[in-house]
Amino acid sequence: MSKLVPGQRLHQRCVCCCWNKLCNFNYCRIFIFLVVTSIAFIFFLAVYTCKPMGHSCFGLTDGSPVALSYYDAFLMGKVFKHNFSEAVLNKERRLNLEGEDVLIYLHIQKTGGATFGRHLVHNLDVDFPCECKAHIKKCVCVTRNSRRWLFSRHATGWMCGLHADWTELTDCVDKWFKRNDVKSRKHRVYHYITFLRDPVKRFLSEWQHVQRGATWKAARLHCNGRDATMEEVPFCFTGVDWSGVPFDEFMSCKHNLAFNRMTRMMANLSKVNCYNRTGLTDDVVNEILLKSAKENLEACAFFGLVEEQQKTQFLFEKTMGLKFIDNFRQKIKTHVSRLEITEEMTKKVVEKNILDIELYQYAKDLFLQRVAYMERKLGYTVDEYFNHIRDADDAGDDDTEEVDVDEYGDEDDTDDDIDDDGVDIYPGKNTTAGGEIPNSSTVRLNSSR
Ligand SMILES: *[C@@H]1O[C@H](CO)[C@@H](O)[C@H](O)[C@H]1NC(C)=O
Ligand SMILES: *[C@@H]1O[C@H](CO)[C@@H](O)[C@H](O)[C@H]1NC(C)=O
Ligand SMILES: *[C@@H]1O[C@H](CO)[C@@H](O)[C@H](O)[C@H]1NC(C)=O
Ligand SMILES: *[C@@H]1O[C@H](CO)[C@@H](O)[C@H](O)[C@H]1NC(C)=O
Ligand SMILES: *[C@@H]1O[C@H](CO)[C@@H](O)[C@H](O)[C@H]1NC(C)=O
Repeated sequence: MSKLVPGQRLHQRCVCCCWNKLCNFNYCRIFIFLVVTSIAFIFFLAVYTCKPMGHSCFGLTDGSPVALSYYDAFLMGKVFKHNFSEAVLNKERRLNLEGEDVLIYLHIQKTGGATFGRHLVHNLDVDFPCECKAHIKKCVCVTRNSRRWLFSRHATGWMCGLHADWTELTDCVDKWFKRNDVKSRKHRVYHYITFLRDPVKRFLSEWQHVQRGATWKAARLHCNGRDATMEEVPFCFTGVDWSGVPFDEFMSCKHNLAFNRMTRMMANLSKVNCYNRTGLTDDVVNEILLKSAKENLEACAFFGLVEEQQKTQFLFEKTMGLKFIDNFRQKIKTHVSRLEITEEMTKKVVEKNILDIELYQYAKDLFLQRVAYMERKLGYTVDEYFNHIRDADDAGDDDTEEVDVDEYGDEDDTDDDIDDDGVDIYPGKNTTAGGEIPNSSTVRLNSSR
């Protein structure tokens, strides 16, 4: 190994970037600095100013060095600005829960939805809070006139199927209320609320959850009047579950419902013939699903983002005219944040969840624009709200009680319970009768899928 004196090394490095006469250390540094900053500047300028045309920016052809897509923007943590109408931005409403209004919670797996679900039953400042008992997952959420005001796993159980999606809920909720609501209420207005999460984190979180034994195999996947069949959606595993599944195996199962789960669960699946896509190309199906999911998300009364707990709380309170007792907390650590994820894994996940990434990018822009709209309308910011305004409103009851919603559930913010298939929250199907977990095939046969 030959030792170089500093001057020599500099000289050698300089040759590649400067012409000989200017080959002096400082020129060289300035030159490199200028090149790097201008490239970075152009890149960021492009992200901020360009609107996507199809999948790539400026409609540039492949191979262009600055062709930016939704996915590049996603990976950079940026969003494209959409032009939303006022009606889409402003969802403010006065709920009358003692009247016709009912909250319907559409809970997508691994979106941090369990925590929000617990906030709704334990932490909402309403005249008729839910009555919850220790160790029982379901609470009783009724108004003074015995009207049910919340439909969710924590309030009613999975009455429309385990983690029922938009298609299942819109088909089932009204029928269920007609049978189970007090007779005095003849008509109801359903306000759908849901949560979304960074699709890569969500997907990895689902993989981790499946590794720990979750299957959601009791999900009915009901659509157009029947449950999906085994042929349409086969299980990815044989035997009881898919515990310990390695990443590559999880990625290689074509029927894995984890792929683009958020888009599928928000879309009207009737539009693509449910789970039988015979005669439809993937491109056509994807386009329809994404469009439908965006429309349904826009039409929801509210949606939150797990990455934005404070803004979510602000927007929910101001949109619904309801208030939480205790403030939401942003959890720092999740199972996923402790995982070692390589760049290659992320790339694979992105490729397989393209619809969810488009949906999420769209949703994030909509969410942030809604927050900004609400701030303008109210004349104060989210920070100001939490720093003085909200507390001032509470001046009467100064010893604000700490409500720890996670005390009522598991430790991890984004973790649904492993026993999601349990009978006490999902009375429709007897999947865990006698404490025995049946084989996947037995469940499918029993549920005539
Ligand atoms: C956004 O949409 C509105 C009407 O929907 C239109 O008047 C306005 O020009 C649009 N703005 C941009 C920047 O496209
Ligand atoms: C899907 O539907 C087609 C007819 O539309 C039918 O021939 C085919 O058997 C169905 N596939 C499955 C898996 O059910
Ligand atoms: C469960 O599946 C295994 C093989 O997959 C089979 O041998 C066993 O009999 C099944 N048990 C029940 C209860 O069906
Ligand atoms: C879902 O789409 C189908 C087919 O376009 C339509 O008939 C149905 O009304 C939609 N469902 C809802 C709840 O809007
Ligand atoms: C569920 O299983 C238990 C125990 O086998 C049985 O007593 C109960 O009647 C079953 N419930 C339904 C709805 O099938």
